[in-house]
Amino acid sequence: MKKIMAANWKMYKTGEEAAQVAKELVQLATDLPKDRKVLVCPPFTAIKEVADAFRGVNNFSVGAQNVYPASEGAFTGELSPAMLRAAGADWVLTGHSERRTILRESNEFVGDKTAFALENELNVILCVGEQLKERENGLLSEVLSAQLTAGLAGVSKNIAAERIAVAYEPVWAIGTGKVAGAAEITEAHALIRALLKKIMPHIADETPILYGGSVKSDNASAIMALDNVDGVLVGGASLQAESFCRIICA
Ligand code: PGA
Repeated sequence: MKKIMAANWKMYKTGEEAAQVAKELVQLATDLPKDRKVLVCPPFTAIKEVADAFRGVNNFSVGAQNVYPASEGAFTGELSPAMLRAAGADWVLTGHSERRTILRESNEFVGDKTAFALENELNVILCVGEQLKERENGLLSEVLSAQLTAGLAGVSKNIAAERIAVAYEPVWAIGTGKVAGAAEITEAHALIRALLKKIMPHIADETPILYGGSVKSDNASAIMALDNVDGVLVGGASLQAESFCRIICA
């Protein structure tokens, strides 16, 4: 299984700014280990520019940060999988905690997006993770189980393992500088692996499980060395090519 080193650029960068960083990244990442692939998820309006910068570069691809679960129709402000693919995206994030909390997306809606994106030739990183209150109340396992069960409910049992990944992002560690500890990451990733074995037994062992939440160049290699960590999803520290490059080669 290749490790996925993913960047989530959130609502940062115009097309021009994104193209600049994407080009720098390609130039800098000459030491990318062979067992890794790089995925950059820019805002919609920069997908084409980043795809152009990555064209012909092995192991670099582009993802969207959101998708709507329909082919076309009266869905103001939304984009279909075909539109994202035409712009140059091969992947999409579903269930990011900012969409779950700020945009009030339910587990079921995240599941609809995940299934529809996969059916329509986008690969998916399904993001899951608990709020601090849930962790403090001992609900980690329940939250992950509910998010994964609903998030994967509509996914075909024959899906190929390389088309789907799960990102564990404890909400309290996103953008806060508070990275989860080794024991917390190992526990959550083992729980996710066990849940995947129940939900999608045929691909559970080969499904990459990424960690996300305040990953930086100085903690990335320790996180990557943990059991069941098959990549990272990086926000803030992925916005500059140099700092993301130190993470992807860590
Ligand atoms: P962060 O964001 O690295 O800035 O904590 C991670 C994410 O939201 O995917």
